[in-house]
Amino acid sequence: MSHPYEPFLQEILIDSTTLQARICELGQQISADYAGKQNVLLICVLKGGIMFLSDLVRHIEVPHSIEFLSISSYGDGVRESSGRVRIDMDLRQDIAGKHVIIIEDIIDSGHTMNYILSLLATRHPASLRICTLLSKPSRRQVEIKLDYLGFEIPDKFVFGYGLDLDEVFRNLPFIGVCKPNMRFGP
Ligand code: IMP
Ligand code: MG
Repeated sequence: MSHPYEPFLQEILIDSTTLQARICELGQQISADYAGKQNVLLICVLKGGIMFLSDLVRHIEVPHSIEFLSISSYGDGVRESSGRVRIDMDLRQDIAGKHVIIIEDIIDSGHTMNYILSLLATRHPASLRICTLLSKPSRRQVEIKLDYLGFEIPDKFVFGYGLDLDEVFRNLPFIGVCKPNMRFGP
C-alpha cells in the first residue's frame, strides 16, 4: 500500500521516535527552567507549531496556559520568505507580566521570528523565550537567539509533523525532505 506522500518524499530526515525523544528532553528542560514560576504562557505559532505544541506540553510539568498566534510570511505558493510578515490572528489575552515561550516549527531566514519577538516585546511580558523544533542556520538573514532548539537541519525543504507541503501532509509523524521542485496539486 503506498501513501499519498510517497511521490514527494526524498528521505525521512527525523523519524518519529527521534522527534519524540528530543521533545521529551525539551519539555523536561522547560519544566526545570520554569519550576516555581507563575503565569507561564506558551504561544504556538500557527499552523506549523501545532504538533510540536501538543506533544511538548505533555512533558511540561509547570502549570501553564496556551495561546495561538497566526502569522504569514511566505507569499502564496512561494517558498522563499519575503521578509514581509503579517498577523492573521492576534492573541486573545494580554501578555504583560507573563513568562512567555514562543513555540515555532522552524526558523529559516528568521524574519518571522524577528517580527514576532519585536511585536511581543512591546507588550511587556515578564520574560520572552523561543522554543523551535527546527532551525536552518545556513539560511539565516536575521540573527535570532534560540533558547530551546530541537534539531538543526540542512538547507532543504522539509514537511510533516506540522510543516506543510503546499498545505498538506502536516499530519505525518516524521520530518521528511521534499524531492526538488515538487509541488502538491495542480
Ligand atoms: P522564516 O521567516 O524564513 O524564518 O520562515 C519561517 C516560516 O517559514 C516557518 O514558520 C514555516 O512556516 C516556513 N518554513 C520555512 N522553511 C520551511 C520548510 O522547509 N518547510 C515548510 N515550511 C517552512
Ligand atoms: Mg511556522
